[in-house]
Amino acid sequence: MIMGELNDNSVTEQRLATLLNIQTVIVVPGDSAHYQRVMDSMGNQLNRLLDKILPAGFSTIAVMGGTTMSAVAQYLTPDLSNQRNLLFVPARGGLGETVSIQANSVCAEMAHHSDGHYRALYVPEDASAESIQPLLHEPVVKSVLDLIHKSNTVIHSIGRAKTMANRREMSSKTIALLEEKKAVSEAFGTFLDQQGNIVYKIPKIGLQVSDLTNISHVVAIAGGAGKADAICSYMKIAPHQTILITDEAASEAILRDN
Ligand code: BG6
Repeated sequence: MIMGELNDNSVTEQRLATLLNIQTVIVVPGDSAHYQRVMDSMGNQLNRLLDKILPAGFSTIAVMGGTTMSAVAQYLTPDLSNQRNLLFVPARGGLGETVSIQANSVCAEMAHHSDGHYRALYVPEDASAESIQPLLHEPVVKSVLDLIHKSNTVIHSIGRAKTMANRREMSSKTIALLEEKKAVSEAFGTFLDQQGNIVYKIPKIGLQVSDLTNISHVVAIAGGAGKADAICSYMKIAPHQTILITDEAASEAILRDN
């Protein structure tokens, strides 16, 4: 496509994709932090995108939790030609959060709305390595972990480090460390500073950022001007095939400050 054929939104999307060094950016009008309809638009974009990237056949989709994921889950719809078989699995444990925004609940919602299936993972994301070890060999846990590592699609959000640390009720010692190291973003249990350096990782269960390289489709959804820095920070280590669905408020803040 030549530049003259692009509308303003496409130009913005291309500028952002180049700046963030990722495959694609989709920007919806408005500010999702203040208007529910903007979050709805991001949900609709996710639904359209899944139709496009997963038109037919069996797919395993690993999803993260959070308020964004929980909101966009409501906008998935079944494919009309009935050619798709979607299985949603939680990308990580994450039992520490409010039930409605846990990855397990997001999986159930996405499966319900898209006429797919889901599996739950009953392992807390932040338990100690010693207490989790025996659980990992339980067939009900192991089979889901195997599915997570075979997933061909991942859908996740990006959080602000401080918000996530408080929401997860992390220890004051860890919060002090995050402050000292100037953590800005969090995704997949990994906290990063503005340059994309890893400053803290919640012990491993399920997917980590480093596992994303081999996954065909990686979709990140995050909007609102308040998340602009967090988006830029995480994108420093995001795999190149990432498709970001965001809103105008975040996109303007990113383009203004970078
Ligand atoms: C959490 C995920 O549940 O939600 C995080 O574990 C993510 O990885 C976060 O960053 C985003 O939350 P929200 O509520 O801002 O969409």
